[in-house]
Amino acid sequence: MKVLVTGSNGMLGQDLCPVLEDEGYEVVETTRKSMDITDKDKVENIILAHNPELIIHTAAYTDVEKAEVEREEAHLVNVTGTRNIVQVCKKQNIPLVYISSDFVFDGEKDTPYKPEDRPHPVNYYGQTKLDGEESVKGLSKYYIIRTSWLYGHHGSNFVTKLLLKNPDEEIKIVDDQIGSPTWTVDLATGIVNIIGSEKYGIYHVCNSGAVSRFEFAEEIFAVFDIKANIVPCKTSDLQSNVKRPKYSVLDNHGRYRNWEIAFRDFATLADF
Ligand SMILES: NC(=O)c1ccc[n+]([C@@H]2O[C@H](COP(=O)([O-])OP(=O)(O)OC[C@H]3O[C@@H](n4cnc5c(N)ncnc54)[C@H](OP(=O)(O)O)[C@@H]3O)[C@@H](O)[C@H]2O)c1
Repeated sequence: MKVLVTGSNGMLGQDLCPVLEDEGYEVVETTRKSMDITDKDKVENIILAHNPELIIHTAAYTDVEKAEVEREEAHLVNVTGTRNIVQVCKKQNIPLVYISSDFVFDGEKDTPYKPEDRPHPVNYYGQTKLDGEESVKGLSKYYIIRTSWLYGHHGSNFVTKLLLKNPDEEIKIVDDQIGSPTWTVDLATGIVNIIGSEKYGIYHVCNSGAVSRFEFAEEIFAVFDIKANIVPCKTSDLQSNVKRPKYSVLDNHGRYRNWEIAFRDFATLADF
């Protein structure tokens, strides 16, 4: 089966494409350079030229802080860009996988969010991801796959950012944001299993278990055997214009392994 992937050089894209290839899929990788999703004509021409049987849309404007101020750009990529892809999928009857986020929820629950729970984003990034979901729902064949707190070997993320810090200096990490850290390789495997099932709908794919950002930081330094001076703080102590959900654990029906086990596997393969 031929699958076209958007954002193939992103953190998830770089882990997803090899996993798809290992499973026997023919993969068409597209990047901002080869297919800027905000360019409607280009999107149509490239998709028609390759004629894929499925599209996996991972490309996104992902900087949550900057999205608050660069609203036009975030909207252009996450909403208009997604609509451009949806329009071609509709015309050509191509099923679409849309990667979405735990940030579509407001974090006011204290039990894991189910796929059918009502989204209510508290920041602009979350709003654009939800608007993307809404346009994808206009298709008859779609998979919306929400995930959370991604880290991987390619690109910048919470783990790599922490490991780059000077461990002798005080590092403040919030202990009042709870979520499920998820390794991009486990998400990639989850995506492959879901598309193999051909059961369309909304899915939550994340590693199991819930942890605060502070507890995750403690685990990161412990696993990498670094003595770091990390200090817990509250979200309100940080100077940020962005509201974040305080609890964004997704209910994955226990289908994915525990985040600590996944993180140890990730660390074993890390070369930084
Ligand atoms: N990271 C997380 O914690 C997290 C959590 C939940 C959900 N997600 C979702 O998971 C997906 C993958 O995230 P990620 O962490 O892998 O993101 P990422 O590393 O930031 O990758 C995003 C990719 O999208 C590309 N892109 C941006 N604008 C584009 C455009 N106009 N046209 C084509 N490509 C464009 C980027 O290209 P450039 O490199 O050229 O900019 C990059 O390759 C996203 O949909 C994100 O919303 C992420």
